[in-house]
Amino acid sequence: MQVYDKTKALMARGAAFLGSETAILCGAMSWVSERNLVAAISNAGGFGVIACGAMTPELLDTEIAATKALTSRPFGVNLITMHPQLFDLIGICAKHKVGHVVLAGGIPPKGSVEAIKDFGGKVLVFAPTLALAKKLLRSGADALVIEGMEAGGHIGPVSTSVLAQEFLPALAEDFLVFVAGGIGRGDMIAAYLEMGAAGVQLGTRFACATESIAHPDFKKAFFRANARDAIASVQVDPRLPVIPVRALKNKGTEEFTAKQREVAQLLDDGAVEMGEAQLRIEHYWAGALRRAVIDGDVENGSLMAGQSVGMVTAEEPVTDIIARLLAESEAALTAR
Ligand SMILES: Cc1cc2nc3c(=O)[nH]c(=O)nc-3n(C[C@H](O)[C@H](O)[C@H](O)COP(=O)(O)O)c2cc1C
Repeated sequence: MQVYDKTKALMARGAAFLGSETAILCGAMSWVSERNLVAAISNAGGFGVIACGAMTPELLDTEIAATKALTSRPFGVNLITMHPQLFDLIGICAKHKVGHVVLAGGIPPKGSVEAIKDFGGKVLVFAPTLALAKKLLRSGADALVIEGMEAGGHIGPVSTSVLAQEFLPALAEDFLVFVAGGIGRGDMIAAYLEMGAAGVQLGTRFACATESIAHPDFKKAFFRANARDAIASVQVDPRLPVIPVRALKNKGTEEFTAKQREVAQLLDDGAVEMGEAQLRIEHYWAGALRRAVIDGDVENGSLMAGQSVGMVTAEEPVTDIIARLLAESEAALTAR
């Protein structure tokens, strides 16, 4: 049996924090990261995270219970900070004593980090700048995920390699930092671990795992795609700040442009406030992603994918993907 000593030594801090065998998180992917994939990841020694997305508290309640029925290992829950029922969702996590909550999609609103810590949950946050990262980590967040623009889904403007150089030397000694975005091979994992990362988070690489419930046509689109097909959405109206989303180019990419114009018009007419306008954009994405992932509408739905999609060429069980990543990392560290 493979042991991956060097990789596991560098992952020890992250794995101890997560309670998993390896510090490889499968980043939450709306509609994809449900009970089956999450449990498979955790059972394989990684750390699965349920994507709450736009779920109601009742649905999240069911999903957590169903995931627990499939794995006895730790897993996390990813909550979107702009969800109107964020605190009710935290209440559901408290009910199930979820060990780790990832607060994504924005700065955690006042009281949210405390509410999670109150029931004993550990909090992972994202931060767009080093200053904000320091502030969040000093005021209670337990770990940070830095995510570069190579990633699939909602993205920031800076690449993973630059974020890693900026954040890791400044934070890695005192805090737990996980690196996400554009990781498709273990060699890259080794490099970030050597720079001080506590672990890594991958999404695209796991989206088409055998255990992923994503529609076969969604998976086929991934297998066919190259890095350059995974493009970031464009903001068409300067008054309506939309967070860019990286997805495979299709007809849905153009529909998003039309959707932005429609929402910008509602803003102009005074029919909606800015917060509501942004929520409508997010609901659009949730619906479009569902069409692609669940219904297999790869033309009009959203095929959110990162630039590492070119390295996803076949359906493989999660255990094989994790074993390959670890072997590649170990080989890279051994060759140094
Ligand atoms: C299809 C898809 C859906 C995603 N949905 C979410 C989400 O709901 N919440 C979130 O925080 N991140 C989401 N992400 C980002 C992932 O959690 C992860 O951070 C990202 O995929 C890592 O970069 P990679 O795709 O280059 O591996 C999504 C990514 C993909 C590909």
